[in-house]
Amino acid sequence: MKETGSTNADLLAASRQGAKEGVVLLAEHQNAGRGRQGRTWHDSPRNALLVSWLLRPVQSTVTVLPLLTGLAIADALKRAYGAEVGVKWPNDILSVPTNGGPERKLAGILAEASIQGDDLAVVIGMGLNIEFRDGVPDEIADVATDLASLISGPVPERLELLTQILISVENQLQLLETAGVSRLLDRYRSCCVTLGREVRLETPGGVINGRAVDIEESGALVIETSSGRVSVSAGDTHHVPPSDDAG
Ligand code: BTN
Repeated sequence: MKETGSTNADLLAASRQGAKEGVVLLAEHQNAGRGRQGRTWHDSPRNALLVSWLLRPVQSTVTVLPLLTGLAIADALKRAYGAEVGVKWPNDILSVPTNGGPERKLAGILAEASIQGDDLAVVIGMGLNIEFRDGVPDEIADVATDLASLISGPVPERLELLTQILISVENQLQLLETAGVSRLLDRYRSCCVTLGREVRLETPGGVINGRAVDIEESGALVIETSSGRVSVSAGDTHHVPPSDDAG
């Protein structure tokens, strides 16, 4: 569709009317895009891939779906376009320059669940910057990047990019089903650029500082803090640059 409020909101509403697993909703522009932690997600028309898809998973896999999605997107971008990207826990897709330059956000993911009786629906929404045709907007210039800046070949068409990503999502869902969550998380760990780093986690319960050391089976991030290990299941991660390290 050309414009909507939020593809996630639309698909959640459709899921309550019985929409089937696998329905995909794509918009050219959202005027009430939703981001993680209750934030608003702004886009400039025609720059981004704004899409949501519907899953009807078994309850036990729900908490790993955001991580699975991050892994799948990073994998698709590397495999199909040679982009140097990684996943910041839980699922921001970052550029990871090999020359040690700053990491910047390329895509964000928002997973939202709806339960009606025994019916569980999870809507996965992704906003990915394909190309800032009019330059990077000032307010995000220090933190955001686009796919066009990360690849040497032609910038992919929106539908071709979406196809690559959905194939990759399907592959990871198959892996989860056939090999189980620990195999999936092994793959996630290898593309997660948060592990081994000093982090500042903004969680609903407050700020946690420490070193990110592992991912639990639930998808929670384990942090080694000055007072022991804590695991965090939701929050915003900030990678602390080495010069800012406490010690
Ligand atoms: C984040 O905060 O990083 C997640 C942003 C997710 C944005 C996408 S755009 C398509 C889908 N529809 C929404 O309203 N949000 C998601």
